[in-house]
Amino acid sequence: MSTRVYRAGIVGCGRKAATLDDEERCRTNYSIPPDSHAAAYKEIKNVTLVAAADPNASKRDLMRARWGVPAVYEDYGEMLAREDLDLVSVTTRAPLHAAVTIASAKAGVRGILCEKAMATSLQEADAMIEACERAGTKLLINHTRRWHPTYTRATETMRAGALGPLRCIIGVCPGPLIHNGTHLFDIMRFFGGDVESVRGEVRTGETEDAPGRAMLAFQNGAAGFVDLDSSLGLALDLQCTAGRLFIDPAEDGFAIWEYRDPPRSSDSRAWYQGSPCKQRATRHVESGGGMGTLVAAIEELIACVEEDHEGRSSGQDGRAALELALAVYHSHAHAGKRITLPMNDRTLTVPSR
Ligand SMILES: NC(=O)c1ccc[n+]([C@@H]2O[C@H](COP(=O)([O-])OP(=O)(O)OC[C@H]3O[C@@H](n4cnc5c(N)ncnc54)[C@H](O)[C@@H]3O)[C@@H](O)[C@H]2O)c1
Repeated sequence: MSTRVYRAGIVGCGRKAATLDDEERCRTNYSIPPDSHAAAYKEIKNVTLVAAADPNASKRDLMRARWGVPAVYEDYGEMLAREDLDLVSVTTRAPLHAAVTIASAKAGVRGILCEKAMATSLQEADAMIEACERAGTKLLINHTRRWHPTYTRATETMRAGALGPLRCIIGVCPGPLIHNGTHLFDIMRFFGGDVESVRGEVRTGETEDAPGRAMLAFQNGAAGFVDLDSSLGLALDLQCTAGRLFIDPAEDGFAIWEYRDPPRSSDSRAWYQGSPCKQRATRHVESGGGMGTLVAAIEELIACVEEDHEGRSSGQDGRAALELALAVYHSHAHAGKRITLPMNDRTLTVPSR
């Protein structure tokens, strides 16, 4: 990282921008504090948080008083025009993410960290990616877990190969599909890669973004089963040909079951005799330490700007997670039909907070 000092601004001065660290939250296998953008910027030496914008006067006052932000604005457009910002955090609710991201890219900002869910339609997400590409702006979407050591170590374990190829991912999380579901869909893609098709259903009787369930077919042949109507926190069961990897919010890190003598596919009757269970070795891998997940995301954004590469949670990744959630709505509207990706309908919009 260079010695240049980056000028950062925040648009939307609510919980995620300013106060989330005050809340009692279960952070196990989710985030490493600080969780607010203002607090994370303060931990990075070569970034100065110079400006923030919010139409709400009390939120602007808080930014000034608590976080020492020298310039606060009612109108983010005015902030972008006056402040010559290098980095912008988009921490409004999802329906404004597209407008703020596109305006920031047009204003010449070099890196944008946009909160999840990336947007409320694919049309918006497409326009965000296009505006950033046109302006040469790096765009990261803050799907927090991609910077958490539990998940980075778990992907390393999967890549090391002892568990064999991935065959199935079971993912559960409390809904709704866009607001929380994009976290789950994103982390399932982190392990399973791109998805070919989606079938799903949405809990009826809700007026906006709602919980739901889905079945995914990954391009690599793995299956995905999703319950976004769970009463548990986000949990994953990754089933491979020679073992399983479990991530649960009740326990730091992850568990591995390794089948020492998995049955050969030509010998499928071995399953009925229970032999793999006798041969199972279990171990636990701690997540242990690591820098704040949001600090890591901002540092990665700076690296993307300086070294001109995409980040581990790019605009394309954010759009892909959103697409999975929207495909569930689309499938539900068509009696559970299989939806092949990419979705043709880019206009389907689901209001989400
Ligand atoms: N990554 C995570 O784990 C995580 C955690 C919490 C929230 N979030 C995301 O952060 C985003 C914000 O959530 P929140 O809980 O902080 O919401 P919030 O309602 O507390 O904050 C949103 C802020 O945006 C402001 N705002 C509204 N219109 C604006 C405008 N035109 N210009 C500037 N500001 C405007 C509001 O006044 C409010 O202060 C959401 O997308 C949410 O999903 C992500």
